[in-house]
Order: sequence, then structure tokens, then C-alpha cells
Amino acid sequence: MKKIVIAIDGHSSCGKSTMAKELAKQIGYTYIDSGAMYRAVTLFCLQNGLFVNNLLNEEYLRREIANISITFVNNPLTGKADTCLNGRNVEKEIRTMAVAEKVSPVAAIGFVREALVRQQQALGTGKGIVMDGRDIGTVVFPDAELKIFVTASPEIRAQRRLAELTAKGESATFEAVIHNLAERDRIDSTRKDGPLKQAADAIVLDNSNLTIAEQNQQMLALFNKKM
Ligand code: DC
Repeated sequence: MKKIVIAIDGHSSCGKSTMAKELAKQIGYTYIDSGAMYRAVTLFCLQNGLFVNNLLNEEYLRREIANISITFVNNPLTGKADTCLNGRNVEKEIRTMAVAEKVSPVAAIGFVREALVRQQQALGTGKGIVMDGRDIGTVVFPDAELKIFVTASPEIRAQRRLAELTAKGESATFEAVIHNLAERDRIDSTRKDGPLKQAADAIVLDNSNLTIAEQNQQMLALFNKKM
């Protein structure tokens, strides 16, 4: 059967990746987490001391961006793809609050987006992929055959994110998490390059009141209808 590209965009912590991963598994497609790539570049900046007094040394990053290699490797324990930064598995580190707090300004830099968008497009040349992010249906794959824009209320998103962090043993408050999400949404939606916005031909899926099983069912139904 002919394979397609599925673009899933939406706000931070609205469950996009859970949905995208599950859909990819069910239909035998490759799942790509584009946010992990921006997180890996942010980790690189933190590891190399590029934030001084909260300001990023963009010139250093510009010189280094072509040497930053981001790859995905299958984790046999979880059955999922882990993110590697210059060959080192950084899956756990890129999910910390330290990275979450710095990722939006890094993702707003034009040359960072250019480099990562190019890599994302290369990953999709063979089709048969589900990619999630903020600009997948608008910039990375404007011709994607199926585009879904996921959303949920800010309170529900913060609750889910807090539960995720707590499960990983990270301590955070509801207030800190909801503030971080609102700030990321603001930066993501207002930046010049590849802002978070719904593609004109995207289907909106609000999962505020859906169980994971229900949202998976809806995604699969959208895929089947398209095919
Ligand atoms: O999906 P996520 O929360 O892991 O994404 C981390 C950050 O990366 C998010 O704040 C916005 C940014 N991002 C982006 O700008 N473009 C994408 N395609 C994916 C993520």
C-alpha cells in the first residue's frame, strides 16, 4: 500500500508524542520526535556553557551547528527510539526541566531551525513516517497527506506534564510547570521562523477529555479515512 507522511503539531505537553508514537506503531510507520532534536541542541548548549547569565552565545552555536549530530537508536528495553547527541544516548537528559526551560529560545533561532528542518525533511523522503512538532504541517512537510493539530486545556496539559516529571523522580510544582508551558507556547507561537500554528488543512483534535485509548482510536480512524 502507498505510504504517506503524517504531520502532528500542537502545543507543549498536549500528548502529541504519545499519540504519534502509538499511531506509528499500529500502522507500521517510523515515528520521529522533532522536539527531541531541538532539546538535544539545547543540551549541547548547556553542556558547553553557552548560556551566560541566561544569554546564549549564538555565535559559538552558529559555528558548531553543522558538527552537532542527532540520531535515534532503538532502545530494546522500552521498544522506543532514544535520542543520541554526537553518539551519546541523551534521552533522559533532554527530558529534564533544565532543558525544558531553555529549549524555546534555542528553537527560535533561525539557523538552528534551518539545520534541523533540513534533517527532518531528509528523514521523510521515503514517506511512511509520523513526525510530531510545531511546524511539521506548515514548514517541514507542507504537502503531508495527513495533518493533525492536537490541543488540550492548559490545566490538563500541566497536570499531565507534572505527573510525567514526578514519575521520573523530578520535583516540580504545578505552578512552575504551567508557567513553563505558557512561556514555551508564547515563544513558540510568536517567533519569526516556523511559529507554532495550525496548518489551514489540518484536522483539530482536542484531547482534554479523551482517554489515551479514545485518542488513539480517533487517530487511527483519521488515518483509515485518509487511506
Ligand atoms: O515537543 P517538545 O516539547 O519536546 O518540544 C521541545 C521544544 O522544541 C518546544 O518548546 C518547541 C520546540 N520545537 C519546535 O520549535 N519545533 C518543532 N518542530 C518541535 C519542537
